[in-house]
Amino acid sequence: MLVLGVESSCDETGLALYDTQNGLLAHALYSQVAMHEEYGGVVPELASRDHVRRAIPLLELVLKQASVPCSAVDAIAYTQGPGLAGALLVGASVACGLGLALDKPMLGVHHLEGHLLSPLLASDPPAFPFVALLVSGGHTQLMRVDGVGQYALLGETVDDAAGEAFDKSAKLLGLGYPGGPAISRLAEFGDPGVFTLPRPMLHSKDLNFSFSGLKTAVLTVVKTRIANICEQDKANVARAFVDAIVDVLVAKCLAALKQTGLKRLVIAGGVGANRQLREALNAAAEKKRFRVFYPELEFCTDNGAMIAFAGAMRLQMHPDAAQRDYSFNVRPRWPLDELRNA
Ligand code: KG4
Ligand code: ZN
Repeated sequence: MLVLGVESSCDETGLALYDTQNGLLAHALYSQVAMHEEYGGVVPELASRDHVRRAIPLLELVLKQASVPCSAVDAIAYTQGPGLAGALLVGASVACGLGLALDKPMLGVHHLEGHLLSPLLASDPPAFPFVALLVSGGHTQLMRVDGVGQYALLGETVDDAAGEAFDKSAKLLGLGYPGGPAISRLAEFGDPGVFTLPRPMLHSKDLNFSFSGLKTAVLTVVKTRIANICEQDKANVARAFVDAIVDVLVAKCLAALKQTGLKRLVIAGGVGANRQLREALNAAAEKKRFRVFYPELEFCTDNGAMIAFAGAMRLQMHPDAAQRDYSFNVRPRWPLDELRNA
């Protein structure tokens, strides 16, 4: 079964072809980062307009890469939510328009399910069950994953997502958008311990997170403790920020493994690309004897491959999940646990 995946939930247009027998045949991505950079964040209207421009050329590219005609596609999976309403609508309308023209069944995919299953695209995929840390720009959640569609929420952020904290703190330090990679690079030059930032909810005895206080602490340091912040101070603050956020993420992952008794941890979502987080998790895994799995770097952030893959996994389990129904609707807010019975 050949599934075309279409991702357009935020600022990346991703198209991909996943074949249940031969794996990922092709994927192509266009990132709008350069366009949004000058505004310091994603401008939803511009994002939607750009998805319109990119979707069809990317489709042509993946068909060419895979050397298959459009007609070879068996089903079309598109990101139905959560995400920016206008951006989602573009992907859904392109996908459903294609489906109607080609007479193919459609399947709306949950963006976070795409992230959650993306490590299964790697060469050494984890077996079920596992604990998953989903860390993106919009979400920070710990889940127990027993199989495709079997997700139990263990804990989540009570305010900002980890990626959001990276982006907002980077902005306070005058770094570009997206802030995650920028602050992570700057932190490499920082000295540890010059500044100490709080580790919110580290000892909360549950698996929830809170990151808005951390961002406020960065603001306090930047605005009040340093009159004219120099480059080395910025690097020191970046280092303190990364150390704090990594400490909290690692501690909560360890607590989730202990609570569930599981020995496999999966990291998914954009912040999963973070080098310091990976180093700390790898060290913890060696010490505490569990295994940690990551998606390929290119599939940590938003992409079409994870949507094609999640769609294909669902269709293998429930062939009726895809329908020749082209009257789509998108779900900008869509809790992942509502998927369980889908
Ligand atoms: O999963 P994703 O591409 O989009 C969402 O679904 O949100 O994640 C984007 C987030 C942004 O907040 C970005 O700053 C963060 O992931 N990110 C990183 C890194 N690469 C991306 N954060 C820390 N370190 C990175 N290397
Ligand atoms: Zn995402």
